[in-house]
Amino acid sequence: MQGESVRKILEKNKLILAPMEAVNCVAFRLLCKHYGAGWVYSPMIYADSIVALEKELGEKEAVQKLVTPLKEESPFSIQIGGSNPEKMKIATEIFSKYCDFIDINFGCPVTNILGCKAGGYFVKHPDNFKKVIPGMIEASKVPVTAKIRIGWDENSINAVEVCKQLEGLGIESVSIHGRTVKQMYRSGHRWDIIKQCKEAVQIPIVANGNVTNAHSVITCLGQTKADGIMIARAAQDNPFIFTEGNRILKEGPQNFKEQEPDRKKIFLEFLALYKKHEVRYHFSEIRDHALWFSKGGAGSARVRNLLLKTENEEELIQLFEKYF
Ligand SMILES: Cc1cc2nc3c(=O)[nH]c(=O)nc-3n(C[C@H](O)[C@H](O)[C@H](O)COP(=O)(O)O)c2cc1C
Repeated sequence: MQGESVRKILEKNKLILAPMEAVNCVAFRLLCKHYGAGWVYSPMIYADSIVALEKELGEKEAVQKLVTPLKEESPFSIQIGGSNPEKMKIATEIFSKYCDFIDINFGCPVTNILGCKAGGYFVKHPDNFKKVIPGMIEASKVPVTAKIRIGWDENSINAVEVCKQLEGLGIESVSIHGRTVKQMYRSGHRWDIIKQCKEAVQIPIVANGNVTNAHSVITCLGQTKADGIMIARAAQDNPFIFTEGNRILKEGPQNFKEQEPDRKKIFLEFLALYKKHEVRYHFSEIRDHALWFSKGGAGSARVRNLLLKTENEEELIQLFEKYF
């Protein structure tokens, strides 16, 4: 789409919305962009899904159904997961017409994905990288990036070797979740390993994992020396983290006071974007976002219980108007 390099994009804005399954619908991606994310990702789309759906619906409709890409999102990455080289190649050929970067998921720790030799399975079996990457790069109309974890388990941390290998295969940049695959989301993230990766390769490195507020953007950048920061769970609850993250980068951490998000405004903006751009209407999806946005406010536990009982948009809006 826009043709700018990763380095150029990160020079302008270091903050990225991480890929998140069941969260990063087009409305949420646009919302994060509106609040200051410089680059947004789709959730992981399994290569086999787009290959099958394309046969059934045709390319445009299949892409629309799975990702709903919009020009306004640019720079935008579509993340592909899988293990079958041919299907990953076809998925890349299709998706690369609709985004600025193709990202490959080499970090997913979910059992059924690992069972298909996809996601984090690759960091345990780094020989498999060369089975999928060259074909994807060849098929892609845009640069190809990768997302990894630091290793399979604490006894086999290999992110530095993996980054060197990915760089050698032509990957444009690597984002690194500072945990092992086996660790899932447990405590003990390793930003120090991300720093070692940054020192070992020339391509841009993006740090990910446990960036929870504006101050941790500064800490993570300081400790990893990464070129960019990718945020997932903290953005899921609070897209305003991108505004605050950019503000602290500009103003510096001294005397920086983080501001509270306007939860009602965020929810109403999300709802408007959802109704304007989503190709489906699932009330449960809207309510999920409402529940996430409600976190952290005064009395949020009580509001949460009330939100869970809602059955339509009006009831959600009334609760946000009453409590936030
Ligand atoms: C709900 C949810 C869905 C996720 N889906 C994906 C995904 O589709 N692809 C991916 O590479 N990572 C996925 N992740 C992992 C995040 O991108 C990120 O690496 C991880 O949450 C650590 O970052 P954080 O501490 O900022 O949350 C997901 C995480 C969450 C919480």
